[in-house]
Amino acid sequence: MPRPLVVANWKMHGSRPANAELLAALLAARPYAAEVAFCVPFVYLHETAATLAGSELRWGAQDVSEHAQGAYTGEISAAMLAECGCRYVLVGHSERRTHHGEGDALVARKAQAALGRGLTPIVCVGETLAEREAGDTEAVVKRQLSAVIHQLAHCAAEMVVAYEPVWAIGTGRQASPEQAQAVHAVLRAQLQAATGRAQAMTILYGGSVKPDNAAALFAQPDIDGGLIGGASLKAADFTAICRAAG
Ligand code: 13P
Repeated sequence: MPRPLVVANWKMHGSRPANAELLAALLAARPYAAEVAFCVPFVYLHETAATLAGSELRWGAQDVSEHAQGAYTGEISAAMLAECGCRYVLVGHSERRTHHGEGDALVARKAQAALGRGLTPIVCVGETLAEREAGDTEAVVKRQLSAVIHQLAHCAAEMVVAYEPVWAIGTGRQASPEQAQAVHAVLRAQLQAATGRAQAMTILYGGSVKPDNAAALFAQPDIDGGLIGGASLKAADFTAICRAAG
């Protein structure tokens, strides 16, 4: 079993005063048995790094360019994130797949760009409600993960995977622990076949995780922690979720 991991995804939320207050509260509530990380908007990375430096809390970004450098206006490279001290970067979040047209192949190249600079990509997979109702959940998440496994090849065991059913994100409608566990077991089997080291890999659940449902989700054998959206913006809620993980 890997050490539990709880990752905050602030999405496009925050302000300098609000971030300072939130991070101060999370620092004050240490220690946590779980590893805790914050994926913040790019512009707040430097300040987050300065605030968390010297603590065991980690930080990261929510996206990364597939390119190393060049004429890609508005993009941020993995090397730049590494310079900001990032440990993690989300790739393939469903909001990027939906609103920015990111497909499996691009997500896989982004994961590779991250690993190439020593960052751990948190690869997000998950089905829409229509896909679940059509009975396609397993096929969808396997296809999404397979693209990354093939791109990363012998480094595939270095990634973190996050299962985030699209219908559970920001809706207050979380997957039941049993529903989530069933998909996590499928993902772990796929990782095991590809890497032979899946028991040591981290698979997070994300989608309406709150203090009152976190413990039941994290108690599932293949759920190693969480990727938290809305509840990560409230210090008391996020602290409670971090505690529930370990
Ligand atoms: P919520 O926790 O707000 O449902 O968001 C989940 C998510 O998308 C984390 O990446």
